Amino acid sequence: MCGIVGYVGTEQAAPVLLQGLEKLEYRGYDSAGIAVQQNGIFTVKTKGRLADLKQKIKQDILGHVGIGHTRWATHGAPSDINSHPHSSENGRISVVHNGIIENYMELKEFLQQQGKKFVSETDTEIIAQLFDYYYQGDLVDTMIKVIDKIRGAYALGVLCEEHPEEIVAVRKDSPLLVGLGKNENYIASDIPALLEYTRDYYLLEDNEIVLLKKDSVQIFDLHKKEIKKDIFHVDWDVSAAEKDGYDYFMMKEIVEQPESLRKTIFPRIKENTIQLDQIELTAEQVKKINRIHIVACGSAWHASIVGKYVIEKLARIPVEVDLASEFRYRQPILQKDDLCIIVSQSGETADTLAALREAKKHGIRVLSIVNVVGSSIARESDDVIYTWAGPEIAVATTKGYSTQLSVMYLLALYFGSAKELISSQEMMEYIDKLKKVPDDVEKLLEVEERMKALTEQYANTKDVFVIGRGIDYAAALEGSLKLKEISYIHSEAYAAGELKHGTISLVEEGTLVIAIATQQNLFEKLVSNIKEVKARGASVIAIAVEGSESIEKVADEVFYIPKTNELFTASATLVPMQLFAYYIAVQRGCDVDKPRNLAKSVTVE
Ligand code: AGP
Repeated sequence: MCGIVGYVGTEQAAPVLLQGLEKLEYRGYDSAGIAVQQNGIFTVKTKGRLADLKQKIKQDILGHVGIGHTRWATHGAPSDINSHPHSSENGRISVVHNGIIENYMELKEFLQQQGKKFVSETDTEIIAQLFDYYYQGDLVDTMIKVIDKIRGAYALGVLCEEHPEEIVAVRKDSPLLVGLGKNENYIASDIPALLEYTRDYYLLEDNEIVLLKKDSVQIFDLHKKEIKKDIFHVDWDVSAAEKDGYDYFMMKEIVEQPESLRKTIFPRIKENTIQLDQIELTAEQVKKINRIHIVACGSAWHASIVGKYVIEKLARIPVEVDLASEFRYRQPILQKDDLCIIVSQSGETADTLAALREAKKHGIRVLSIVNVVGSSIARESDDVIYTWAGPEIAVATTKGYSTQLSVMYLLALYFGSAKELISSQEMMEYIDKLKKVPDDVEKLLEVEERMKALTEQYANTKDVFVIGRGIDYAAALEGSLKLKEISYIHSEAYAAGELKHGTISLVEEGTLVIAIATQQNLFEKLVSNIKEVKARGASVIAIAVEGSESIEKVADEVFYIPKTNELFTASATLVPMQLFAYYIAVQRGCDVDKPRNLAKSVTVE
């Protein structure tokens, strides 16, 4: 969840580190710090945001080698002392860490028995002390000894006073990549941190150790055998990781959705068929699929629920949807001809990665839907379908989720057609509607001003229920999460038919209900549910399909989405809810891109 950056080169390290951390702040933002090799290691760190760190830096920090960190606290509350980088007691070693060291208590006891004194409550400090304990002059040898002793997930960047021109780094189950420059090299948790400096990277595998100097990068395995790696080149524009004049990344990313959807959908439609060239799963293999397990966390899990409805409808394959944190421990029943679909924007979510490994352990084929190219999930899957959303920086996902939905549509059509359940005429009609999804989303962006005005009325709302049936229920889950995570308003998504089995007791004068009614066969039933909550004093904002104007008789406000195939409505439906959550959060003075207690990439379980 934390962000790591490191620099070795000819420039001053501190500005490069601060600039990199700015791009990584979405990964954690309760404290920040840097350490630079001067005459000895100079460290400055603080509780709070990067802005607080910049304020704390009163003097020029001169030095060409350094590491930096932005933290999402796990062990020990956010405080100056618990902030990274952490040092060994003698100050010789400095460490930044992303992840969790599971056996840190036993290692701490061991080090305490050796007379080492600790100052923080973190698991990271033991790494600095352990590194110092094992250090006998060679950084790579020491790192090998350290990782032999630690258990858990880690991306580490380490400085040693006696090697003022070098950084040693390693990763296991936490992301870390190496940026390659001319007379300068970098490490970082994610590409946006380095986009300004390089487009060339080495992607590290677990337990590969990197020795970084300004003019060389050496990568070693655990036996100190040097490994040769291919350079991974990204062609992203620098502006992809900039706000481009928007107040928040989230709004920029909401607006980018039509474009991201076009990039994700259109290249996969050829001559009125769905062509998933990048996957090896053949039509014959699809025919044999017995059951699909879709596994994900958070919004990706919500996209998976839409996927269940669409795949079951079009391909008639039973689909189970699991939360990754549950799947990995519940001993799921996985059979030979099952397919596991893993969904993750970042491709690094710890629980989702563990679920993938669980499926692979059972010999199940894994197809993943991932946004970040070269991420751990992408690399460990049998097949990958990329969502071409580009970098998503706001903690609350928008274009990441939308593009995941579009891949679900593509997959469902691909499976349905492989199973010969969709005629070519039907396929043409589906594809016609699928191609219009980006336009439908674009059209809904036009409600921005109206939504902005409406949120003034609801800024002090205490409770919101988002209700729907079928796919609308799946969309409600995502709409409700958006509101919770960025505006801190209590919100729950409910299958509309389930409301009267208990939860309707919470509806009273002033409760806001957002009702989604895009499924024609369920429309009348949803209208009845709206009447039930209206009768108990709720205000109702409805989202319906053009042509269902009768809903205006029961709802206070209605937003219409264009008529489309009912399987694809969740895409346009989401836009008013994203905008609602965004403007409510702005009204309430919340930090939209960096909501409290959250981080973008959840790399600890
Ligand atoms: C959504 O707005 C959240 N930030 C969160 O639920 C997210 O979708 C979840 O953590 C999964 O992330 P991933 O897609 O990167 O695996």
